[in-house]
Amino acid sequence: MERIDKILASQNLGSRKQVHKLLKDKSVLINGVVCTDNSQKVEPEKDIIVVNGEKLVFKKHLYIMMNKPAGVVSASKDTREKTVIDILPEKLKRQGLFVAGRLDKDTEGLLIITDDGDFAHRVMSPNKKVYKKYFAKLDNPVTEETKKKFEQGIVFKDGTECLPAMLEICEDGKSAYVSICEGKFHQVKKMFLCCNLKVEYLKRISIGRLELDNSLDLGQSRELEDCEKQLILNAD
Ligand code: URA
Repeated sequence: MERIDKILASQNLGSRKQVHKLLKDKSVLINGVVCTDNSQKVEPEKDIIVVNGEKLVFKKHLYIMMNKPAGVVSASKDTREKTVIDILPEKLKRQGLFVAGRLDKDTEGLLIITDDGDFAHRVMSPNKKVYKKYFAKLDNPVTEETKKKFEQGIVFKDGTECLPAMLEICEDGKSAYVSICEGKFHQVKKMFLCCNLKVEYLKRISIGRLELDNSLDLGQSRELEDCEKQLILNAD
């Protein structure tokens, strides 16, 4: 059981103060009865809550797919830079959202934003072997030698060891698909740098078996379907 004001605020119906006004204005019904008591306890998954005539579809957690554009940072808050949370549509905003697997400011593509810590952990943990696939454009041709090094596991100059990665070289020779199951800082760029190649463009195209929805323009987001969440977690 949770307080009604806490539940309403958690579902993006306004701040606590705005929610208190909704209750005071008799705009909230619980199981058909007007509720004006901020502290009334409800079972959000069982009780029928109606706000301003609309039935509340309670969502314990939110799972969002974004086609991240370059130029925004993957943080929840930043005092100077625009963040991916800043560019979410109002209807998808709620307290506690964060990114499950950051992308660099200049990287585009598939980003998962959620407020479910367990889910995020499973997406990001290298032990769970959820592969993230990137499309990279390089400054010079990619060789079979680079592919071999990726498959063996790149070791950075500071001794950091990367897990084996898969590399598919594209026909043009200067672009490739890379799949990794971990998320070290600037990992893909640094792996190519170890092979004397500079990444000029980077886009994440899939996480597990979930592919970026190509109908999303850069900067657009939408909620994930339940089955899409499963595509991420049941990666085999
Ligand atoms: N690897 C990088 O170098 N950058 C990203 O944004 C993601 C993976």
